[in-house]
Amino acid sequence: MAESHDDIPLSVLTPDGRPFEEQPKWRRDFPIDVPEDNHVARRDFTKFMVLVSFAFAVGQCWIWLMSAWRRARGTSASRRIVAVAEVPVGGAVSFSYPNPHDACVLVRTAADDFVAYSSKCTHLSCAVIPDVTAGVLRCPCHHGLFDLATGRPLAGPPRRPLPRVQLGREQGYIVALNVEERTT
Ligand code: FES
Repeated sequence: MAESHDDIPLSVLTPDGRPFEEQPKWRRDFPIDVPEDNHVARRDFTKFMVLVSFAFAVGQCWIWLMSAWRRARGTSASRRIVAVAEVPVGGAVSFSYPNPHDACVLVRTAADDFVAYSSKCTHLSCAVIPDVTAGVLRCPCHHGLFDLATGRPLAGPPRRPLPRVQLGREQGYIVALNVEERTT
């Protein structure tokens, strides 16, 4: 609040232009100069927006760095997931690939057909759940839906497909060969 009100026109100092003494008691008890109030509010809002934008930019950089680091660290070494005979048609198996914290899901969609994806939803990383009968993977967090055959988003907030795990077979086992990151 300004120290003196003498040099500020009354119409500016008080909202209705009446002298300060005629203002309601609540305004006299807590006088706020309207021009200063606007100025402070705008300045605070600008400060807030700058801080939020900065935090957002830092967050984006962090996510990008982590994903680049994981990609660089990722190994293309193949890994056995499960024996073919252990997964019934319509069944699913959770596994980690290529690193222990990279959760994935393998689904046997037909007698001779397996698909595997990262099980982290591409919206906010909730775990997706296969629904073989409906031919989709469901994300329970915000009703995201992915095509089981391709991993592409069908409905809900996700816009990017699930990373696909390339599969092979080795001595009766399903083997993870690599992870295919996709943007479309
Ligand atoms: S986290 Fe999957 S839809 Fe939001």
